[in-house]
Amino acid sequence: MNVVGVVFLFLVLGVVGAESIRLSPDPPSPVLPATFTAGFDETMDYFGLTGATQGVLYYDSLKGYERMDRENGEADRYCGTAHLFSKTPCTHLIVDSTRWLIFPQRQSCCYCCDSADGCGIVKRDFLANATFVGYEEVNGTSVQHWKEEGLQENDYWQTDDQKPVRLYQKPNDDMRFKGTDLKPIDPSVFQVPDYCSSDKQCGGTCSFLRKRASRSVSKSGGRPKGILVE
Ligand SMILES: *[C@@H]1O[C@H](CO)[C@@H](O)[C@H](O)[C@H]1NC(C)=O
Ligand SMILES: *[C@@H]1O[C@H](CO)[C@@H](O)[C@H](O)[C@H]1NC(C)=O
Repeated sequence: MNVVGVVFLFLVLGVVGAESIRLSPDPPSPVLPATFTAGFDETMDYFGLTGATQGVLYYDSLKGYERMDRENGEADRYCGTAHLFSKTPCTHLIVDSTRWLIFPQRQSCCYCCDSADGCGIVKRDFLANATFVGYEEVNGTSVQHWKEEGLQENDYWQTDDQKPVRLYQKPNDDMRFKGTDLKPIDPSVFQVPDYCSSDKQCGGTCSFLRKRASRSVSKSGGRPKGILVE
């Protein structure tokens, strides 16, 4: 074969290759595991207030429980504004459709908001309408990249067996998961501490969501834009 023939053959193979990639169907949209525990690294940037922390997400959709612990709640837009920017661990705990913010080192807790305010647990199919971007290499593994445009663009990466890898709520919040454990979670993990009382309401973002929901109940249900805040 002469040079022209070789080039032609490569062009044909190239086109065939591209077609076969495009024709392979998109994977099914993401669905979170029914129950899982996952550690994460997180970086946040809210209008110049930046932070980095580590945490653990506990999720039990069968019971309707979700808990997110952060070693430092300062840069979380709920924790950081409920207890003005203090560097202390902070937990979101959602049980019976109620979201609590707990500051365990201070034995302090406040009522944040509830599902009527858009504060229930994240739905397993929260990305049902997302677009498949493609496969990408993340730390040496090929994973699915999904994207959902909304008030805020959400990018999500997961493994083929539907384990979360990374959730980037652009541009504020980037969570990189460190492995997913599918074992059932002991109910004590979701126990609301005695020192929580609905009389004590959180300020900041929580208060904003409560007020916004009460203003717009008939319209949108007051959905906040964060994804882990369904
Ligand atoms: C997906 O879109 C449909 C139709 O617009 C809507 O009913 C549904 O609530 C959406 N699901 C999610 C998880 O956003
Ligand atoms: C990739 O690995 C590095 C080092 O372990 C880690 O800091 C980073 O968060 C990981 N990235 C993702 C998206 O998991």
